[in-house]
Amino acid sequence: MRHLMTPLDLSVEELEKLMDMAEKIKADPEKYSHVCDGKIIATLFYEPSTRTRLSFEAAMLHLGGKTMGFHSADSSSATKGESVADTIRIISCFADIAAMRHPKEGAPMVAAEHSTIPVINAGDGGHQHPTQTLTDMMTIRALKGHFNGMTIGLCGDLKFGRTVHSLIRALLRYDDVKFIMISPEELKIPDYIRDEIKKKGAEYKEITKLEDAMEKLDILYMTRVQKERFFNEEDYVRLKDYYILDMKKMELAKDDMIVLHPLPRVNEIAVEVDNDPRAKYFEQVQYGMYIRMALICMLLNIEIR
Ligand code: NCD
Repeated sequence: MRHLMTPLDLSVEELEKLMDMAEKIKADPEKYSHVCDGKIIATLFYEPSTRTRLSFEAAMLHLGGKTMGFHSADSSSATKGESVADTIRIISCFADIAAMRHPKEGAPMVAAEHSTIPVINAGDGGHQHPTQTLTDMMTIRALKGHFNGMTIGLCGDLKFGRTVHSLIRALLRYDDVKFIMISPEELKIPDYIRDEIKKKGAEYKEITKLEDAMEKLDILYMTRVQKERFFNEEDYVRLKDYYILDMKKMELAKDDMIVLHPLPRVNEIAVEVDNDPRAKYFEQVQYGMYIRMALICMLLNIEIR
């Protein structure tokens, strides 16, 4: 039995295979609409989410399976003091697979250790978010064709933005990927991620002005300032509108650059950018459902031909 805690739990070959599976499902969803008949996914969300939770649920429903779960810690036995370890033992009796989001780093890992069903980390605190990365990777592969040699700009809250941490990890396994990390001084990537970049010998830069990076980028990955991880409101208010991608900045970019965002967007991308053909963040959501369909099948050992 396998779990998914970080993108590195999948080898590059497995990741490619998973994306191939997702492409097959996307091309003919009807063909796979009963492969999970009788299966149940439990979505255990101790932290709010719209996209990720519904994307997992939609994925299972489109495969013919069913869903159950909770969407906030308040509506689970966590309020009574139940541990994650006990909760997953119970859920293991009811469901075939679980996706867990938790505000504490490592909570899904604890769950996996006590689970008899596959557990997927659907975001743990400011740490990792592997299925968003699968979504991002599939979007990049579909739109750019490959990863090698890409220059990616990661902009915004690189400290708490778990999607950025997972994406860097996944991209570091490809050749000659260059990272331009654009953030205010206070929201730079954590040391452990910088160390991973250095260890791989990948080219990277840390800058504060988005305008300085625009013309070099093949991919711009925008992120929201993660309000819920701040210790004080004042810092959040000061930093929340630090970056706003607008059409003026878009004019500096290549014609074939793509803009991604894990969503939800707050102010960091002006609505006017949505109509630019390079804005791909809504398309990205679509890929997210297909890659989760493929992942559910992979972890349940259901073959996709
Ligand atoms: C991201 C998350 O939850 O980390 N969103 C998502 O999964 N779609 C990014 C965010 O919340 O800003």
